[in-house]
Amino acid sequence: MEIIHVAAECYPVAKAGGLGDVVGALPKYQNQLGEVAKVVMPMYRTKFLYDNEWELVHEGGQYLGPQFFHYSVIREKTNKLGFDLFLVDVNGLLDREKIYGYSDDTERFIAFQVAVCDWINQWTSLPDVIHCHDHHTGLIPFMARYCYAFRDRLGGIPSVLTVHNAQYQGDMDWGKSYLIPAYDEWKSGMLEWNNRINPLASAVKCVSKVTTVSNSYLEEMRHAANGLENLFEYEKGKCSGILNGIDNQLWDPATDPMLAKNFDAETFEKGKRKNKKQLCEQFGLDPEKPLITFIGRLVGEKAADLLPEAISQSIYQHHGHVSFLVLGSGDPEVEGRLDQLKYQFGGYFNVYIGYSEALSHMLYAGADFLLMPSRVEPCGLNQLYALRYGTVPMVRSTGGLKDTVTDFGDWQGIGIRFNEASVWDITYSVGRALDLYNNKKDLFNWMRGFMMKIDHSWENAAERYIQLYRTA
Ligand code: ADP
Ligand code: GLC
Repeated sequence: MEIIHVAAECYPVAKAGGLGDVVGALPKYQNQLGEVAKVVMPMYRTKFLYDNEWELVHEGGQYLGPQFFHYSVIREKTNKLGFDLFLVDVNGLLDREKIYGYSDDTERFIAFQVAVCDWINQWTSLPDVIHCHDHHTGLIPFMARYCYAFRDRLGGIPSVLTVHNAQYQGDMDWGKSYLIPAYDEWKSGMLEWNNRINPLASAVKCVSKVTTVSNSYLEEMRHAANGLENLFEYEKGKCSGILNGIDNQLWDPATDPMLAKNFDAETFEKGKRKNKKQLCEQFGLDPEKPLITFIGRLVGEKAADLLPEAISQSIYQHHGHVSFLVLGSGDPEVEGRLDQLKYQFGGYFNVYIGYSEALSHMLYAGADFLLMPSRVEPCGLNQLYALRYGTVPMVRSTGGLKDTVTDFGDWQGIGIRFNEASVWDITYSVGRALDLYNNKKDLFNWMRGFMMKIDHSWENAAERYIQLYRTA
């Protein structure tokens, strides 16, 4: 079966969060299962582009509203990532360093989707499935079925949408409808939600199958999906939950080149201590104290706004017998408050504002606990990396966190769970973490060895997607 994944991110080409990790791994595992999975994404100007060899596979032209644009498609020559990787360039729109955050993101991603449809439309043999990820690629199923330029050849190809996060929908007002290539006006309802063009909603309506990245989030979307609840309720027959995996080859503490010391489920005590020591030296923290980390986008969904208060309260309440290290970027106000906190609590708290893949690996390896108080977490990969690196996850019971982390108070529990995204629940959980670290050493060690052996690899999930394509 030939599958083409269309997405805005793919690690290591361009990654802003978990979407990049998934698109960088799932196709590789699908190929290992004997299918032919490919990825097409925009050609941002990232390091990966300049460090690798490419060949031109297609050049074409299309319209964005009245504006003609020229596009090209290049392919990475060596199959470096374990799948065919194609990048689409549209001069003036996609040739930027960052993935998102521009005022013309709507135009950028529509042009990308038009180019992808136009390119696939010219393949001699069409793919068996088009797999779209999130709203940036959500107009493709509509274009394939209802735009005059594409529908004859693409209209019959089964399509799948994976919702990585329903909070983001890419909606725009009807004034932008001229950007979409001419379509059958009778079908304009298939673009619409709440009197706006909504790419995520449109994809849910137009695709053959919808998946999301955990079973709990599948349930939650019917009650909390940023306005799309009724749509998910109505379309529940074609929706299913497939929990993300992790790329065990890339995320392996025994071989990870980004660590100061490699370790496995037998040698983790010594190995983790060494990584922790290096982190503590670098960030001016005491390696004897339990180290709690937070890694991620500093946004409301992740409850990052609670961190400054929760961290200072925890340090006060526990008389400084704990250290915190935060890695992230996002909301400038949260960034500013965390930055200030490091002067107030020097020696107990530090923060790296920015994005660092290498530091994230060191943190998964060197921290004792990973805090995720997320308000919304469709799957969450951080806790899966933490488990693999023997770091006890402290999570709010929601979405994928609920499906992957059990509480140490329960049988064979591997983490700490709490119910509310609140300062009180976080500080209380910090107390439980300290108790585990200081007074229940044997249990703490057993948990770490046990969690490292849990299999969260992609093999199972990759197979489930293939089964799903067969039914699409
Ligand atoms: P989301 O996609 O919602 O941000 P996930 O838990 O699915 O959350 O995935 C987040 C991914 O991004 C993980 O691989 C995590 O390590 C990484 N990440 C997030 N913020 C940073 C950062 N500032 N530096 C390095 N890696 C980060
Ligand atoms: C989204 C979600 C996150 C999930 C990731 C990969 O960014 O916020 O929970 O793990 O996508 O599916």
